[in-house]
Amino acid sequence: MKVAVIGQGYVGLTISAFAGEFFEIVGFDNDSKIVEQLNKGKSHIEGVESSTLQNWIKAGRYCATNRGSDIADADIVVIAVPTPLTNDRKPDLNFIEAACKTIGENIKHPVLVINESTSFPGTLRTFIKPAIERYSTGLIEHLYAISPERVDPGRGDYSQKNTPRLFAGLTPEASRKTREFYSRFCNHLVEVSSPEVAEAAKLFENTFRQVNIALVNEFAQIAHALGISVYETLDAASTKPYGFMKFTPSAGVGGHCIPVDPTYLAAVAEENGALATFIRRANDVNLEMSEYVVDRIQADNDGSLQGKSVLVVGVAYKPNVADVRETAAELVIKHLRGRGAVVSWHDDVVGNWKGEISAPLQGADIAVVVTKHDSVDEKKVLASAPYVFDTTGKVKGAKGL
Ligand SMILES: NC(=O)c1ccc[n+]([C@@H]2O[C@H](COP(=O)([O-])OP(=O)(O)OC[C@H]3O[C@@H](n4cnc5c(N)ncnc54)[C@H](O)[C@@H]3O)[C@@H](O)[C@H]2O)c1
Repeated sequence: MKVAVIGQGYVGLTISAFAGEFFEIVGFDNDSKIVEQLNKGKSHIEGVESSTLQNWIKAGRYCATNRGSDIADADIVVIAVPTPLTNDRKPDLNFIEAACKTIGENIKHPVLVINESTSFPGTLRTFIKPAIERYSTGLIEHLYAISPERVDPGRGDYSQKNTPRLFAGLTPEASRKTREFYSRFCNHLVEVSSPEVAEAAKLFENTFRQVNIALVNEFAQIAHALGISVYETLDAASTKPYGFMKFTPSAGVGGHCIPVDPTYLAAVAEENGALATFIRRANDVNLEMSEYVVDRIQADNDGSLQGKSVLVVGVAYKPNVADVRETAAELVIKHLRGRGAVVSWHDDVVGNWKGEISAPLQGADIAVVVTKHDSVDEKKVLASAPYVFDTTGKVKGAKGL
């Protein structure tokens, strides 16, 4: 069996590495630098070991490509391309459309197409299937299924193997073949009654997190106004053994999922005449958190940040990964600069970002911790500036939320 995986990023490469034990994988990516690296056996994704890729390459079970014709003889095609927002924060299916074009133009026999990219309910049935058919020459009866990805980059306890996987086909045969495929490397498959349920479940999982993060971020502001510790209050509430789940405050949410997926749900809700006010407000609260943090820092520093050197510690969107997509650090830096601060950042896991490099962890007037990687020494953070504001709750002795 030959499996073509369209997109070799966090999701596509992770799935390729797992499936490579059982199938021949062609990793198709339109970024030629990524393709070149992967063919040298170098992984660019946390959680995918280069040694695994090298093993599959040696065994003739993995190669990366940016030539559409290399996927022509695939039996299964997995779509794992980005689903971002447009500049006006609407679902952007352009990458999915391009993946459909690659499939339609290159595959001339019936295959199983599985979408792993996150999108709104109806994407498989009303967007992917028609798009592939539009780009195909002649009518080819492909099978279509969805299996939304739940990978959490950098996580050690849950992997492709032990994370339950939702799936649904457009037809019973598509469902059966999808089960056969994933059951080789995933222990727990959960079939739902339609692709739309699987698509909606994925969006709801991340909306649940977004809303709860917004709630705790709002509560952090309330706790500060009341002069009580948000962390002690959350620890106290967490002693309830049922009906409560602890979320912690932050400078905002980042990554490709939590800031984006709920907007896909809100957009499709509104298109269908349903309100999504709660989801929209949660998104706003999380986006506003960066400004609240900067307000607090300014208030503690004689009401002005003009000309002060501020070191932002941690610009990745979460600890121990180099991923900066939608990172809250970007908004924190924007607000700091907007108020005249001279901003640099320290993050040796990220290294390079927006043409700037990680600055030393020392010598600032003010340090603000946005993300705390395990490798970052708390004592060094505290010594890096006379005033340290911690948004993570992990730097004991610093000011914080
Ligand atoms: N990263 C996560 O933690 C995560 C978790 C669950 C679901 N998802 C979803 O999975 C999908 C992919 O996300 P990701 O994090 O893997 O993205 P990514 O940016 O890490 O990787 C996407 C890859 O696709 C390539 N690409 C873009 N357009 C292409 C095309 N037309 N043909 C071939 N390659 C193309 C890019 O070069 C890139 O290497 C998104 O829908 C995302 O929401 C991501």
